[in-house]
Amino acid sequence: METIPDEIRRFATVLQNSPLNEVVGSGDVEAIAQLTLSSVLENTDLSEGDNVLDFGCGIGRSTLPLALYAKSGTVFGIDIVKSMVSFCNREIASRLHNAHFLHLLASNVLYDHLNDDAYRPATENVISIDANDMTDRFSGYFNIITAFSVFTHFTIEQAKDQLCIFNTLLKSGGVVLLSMFFDTPWNRFRLDTTDDGYRDCYLDEPLKYVLFDFGRFAELASSAGFRICRVNFGFRDVPIPIRLRKYYHPNDLVVLSKMPTMPKDFDAGLYLMANPDLAAVPDLADHYLKCGFCEERLTRPVGTEIAPRGQTKLGDG
Ligand SMILES: C[S@@+](CC[C@H](N)C(=O)[O-])C[C@H]1O[C@@H](n2cnc3c(N)ncnc32)[C@H](O)[C@@H]1O
Repeated sequence: METIPDEIRRFATVLQNSPLNEVVGSGDVEAIAQLTLSSVLENTDLSEGDNVLDFGCGIGRSTLPLALYAKSGTVFGIDIVKSMVSFCNREIASRLHNAHFLHLLASNVLYDHLNDDAYRPATENVISIDANDMTDRFSGYFNIITAFSVFTHFTIEQAKDQLCIFNTLLKSGGVVLLSMFFDTPWNRFRLDTTDDGYRDCYLDEPLKYVLFDFGRFAELASSAGFRICRVNFGFRDVPIPIRLRKYYHPNDLVVLSKMPTMPKDFDAGLYLMANPDLAAVPDLADHYLKCGFCEERLTRPVGTEIAPRGQTKLGDG
């Protein structure tokens, strides 16, 4: 039986040979895919039945290993560049039943030119959705959202808006794993000027990237309903002893967990009916916020949920 590394190798050549690999950062696709999977496994509790969103999936270098691992779950890759989504449909979704790719109707000045006619030779079989469609269809659906090297190309405003959307898309107890860069004193490429909490790097290259001020980012995450659970500083521009590198990703990795929130329609009686083991708990609302949310307990018995009218929705809200 093929192992996941074997399966990654089997797909890697076609991704490696795509000219689009240059656009998503170039490099050895097989190594990047393996590193992505080990980073996710080391930093989250990804399991085989999880629903995963790989946001800014590019040509699927990060989505592929996640779909190979989450065999009995569902993995969606979403990107704003239509030709990349088309490529992923053709080369990955056609061969992995649990991998799906969608085109997001959104803008990023660094990538918009790739949607010009000249850059999209084949965009058949691509489904486009906008941010509202995404939140309508996927609210509360995902266990894990990853975004590898996407927030590296976002402004503060884009990061803020996207984190709020991620919060809606996640189940309670869900987590986000981002690869990005923090503005640390040891980063050789930090510039002297700051711009509202982040710094532009490699301004002379088409794919400039940004460094986020850590405090500013923590504020953004908090205002979007997340707490920062973990940060692993990467080694891209930083000398880390080679013996330590197997534990590191080149980029900084940050894990965010969704903060508990009280559902508007919370009813202690229904919560108890759905969770009879809590009969001795004196304050059920307090229990929900402190434990029930993260344990993904139902807030009411199955069949008594209030479904939004006229919507096809995949998540649990
Ligand atoms: C550096 S590439 C990384 C691709 C992939 N995650 C990987 O690791 O190979 C950044 C990707 O983010 C996508 N992207 C940029 N802005 C986006 C947005 N607002 N929504 C979704 N994708 C976006 C780009 O089209 C590009 O494919």
